[in-house]
Amino acid sequence: MAGFILGSRSGETGHPVNDFSSYTVSIHYDRRLYRQDIAGSIAHARMLARQGIIPAEDAETIVSGLKSVEREIEAGEFPWDPSLEDLHMNIERRLTEMVGSIGGRLHTGRSRNDQIALDMRLYTREIIRETISEIRGLQRVLLDLAEKHQDLLMPGYTHLQRAQPVLFAHHMLAYFEMFQRDAGRFRDCYRRTDVLPLGSGALAGVPYPTDREFVARELGFTSISPNSMDAVSDRDFLLEYEAAASVCMMHLSRFSEEIVIWSSREFDFIRLSDEFTTGSSIMPQKRNPDFAELARGKTGRVYGHLMALLTLMKGLPLTYNRDLQEDKEGFFDSVDTLLTTLKVFQGMLSEVNVNREHVARLAGESYMLATDLADYLVGKGVPFREAHGVMRRLCAHCEQEGKELQDLSVDEYRQFSEQFDEGVYEITALASVTARDNPGGTAPNRVADGLRQARETLEAATDDF
Ligand code: ARG
Repeated sequence: MAGFILGSRSGETGHPVNDFSSYTVSIHYDRRLYRQDIAGSIAHARMLARQGIIPAEDAETIVSGLKSVEREIEAGEFPWDPSLEDLHMNIERRLTEMVGSIGGRLHTGRSRNDQIALDMRLYTREIIRETISEIRGLQRVLLDLAEKHQDLLMPGYTHLQRAQPVLFAHHMLAYFEMFQRDAGRFRDCYRRTDVLPLGSGALAGVPYPTDREFVARELGFTSISPNSMDAVSDRDFLLEYEAAASVCMMHLSRFSEEIVIWSSREFDFIRLSDEFTTGSSIMPQKRNPDFAELARGKTGRVYGHLMALLTLMKGLPLTYNRDLQEDKEGFFDSVDTLLTTLKVFQGMLSEVNVNREHVARLAGESYMLATDLADYLVGKGVPFREAHGVMRRLCAHCEQEGKELQDLSVDEYRQFSEQFDEGVYEITALASVTARDNPGGTAPNRVADGLRQARETLEAATDDF
């Protein structure tokens, strides 16, 4: 393989020289689909025999030949030949070498166009299951972390300014929800991927009495494609996966950003384990959150692959066009990037240390209770807008005097509003979160419900399709 790729390039610069044969070759990446290709061929051969299109003994010979090919590939002994361009031709050639000219019967009533569409759908189905299972793994880690710090108060932010105290578990459950929707998006995508394209031939169907329903059952497809022209040229299912992957990476990237910020000395909310940080070669004090940064960075390539595929598709007339071969590398890279990033997050979050005291102390910082003080005045009959104005003036006063709100005496409070009394000292971060006791709010009992529900969701999520 490597020899071929290098062979078409000049040794010094790596630029192509005058051998153009490599331009059309896809074997260095489509060989990833060998299991799906062989499974599809076995089902196809069986169907051909059942329908009397080829002799039953030939089908048996072909099936056992294909199994030998598979073993050879798995043992790393398969003689991949780039001059045969792609996976399909490589496997068919090897089959024929093994079983003789009978191997040539396999491609009856089939085209590489419906064959590659099948391979990609089989592969995508498997990958969707794997993706959802990694998302579940991450949700489990998030939930463990949330439960471990169930009572921890932290500052909640808007505009990256400290806004109101929240429970740390509430913050974690926010990500749980995002990943829950992501899993749902992949599930939706599965439904539309789970359609058998084989039997469409090159584009128009095939002139043999095939049994597509049988092939669908053999390969576990829920339905067969209703239109051969669409079936050989549609790649929507890849677009949907890449779109769902982009949204999921966007969520992981936002999380990464928080991890980067939280692990800075300025915030100091968390400490990442050694495995997920790297030191600097010249600044010994540094613990760089490289994994989170790379996850944030890799999000770009996943978006890029989505754009590339959308652009690839937009000018294609029906039906199959060779451009479609370009769907694969980006897709595979998106799959690899997303799956690895989901695994990295599971590792990184299961080892994270939360600086509980520090985080809780910041949650109790008095300015964050300004809204609650305004609400307290509202409780005394002051219109909210007026109460808001009182608090704005009070905060400005404290800032000028270098005081925290709780340092003020009742008399000082009363200079801003007659309605203040001793009760003002009961307004704490805990009281603030406890008051937010409505569905979706951060009150401890609501969050406890949320944790329970999230556990149930995970336990009920069998994710069998
Ligand atoms: N390698 C091709 C692809 O990935 C397989 C289908 C080729 N079909 C053809 N008519 N050349 O799309």
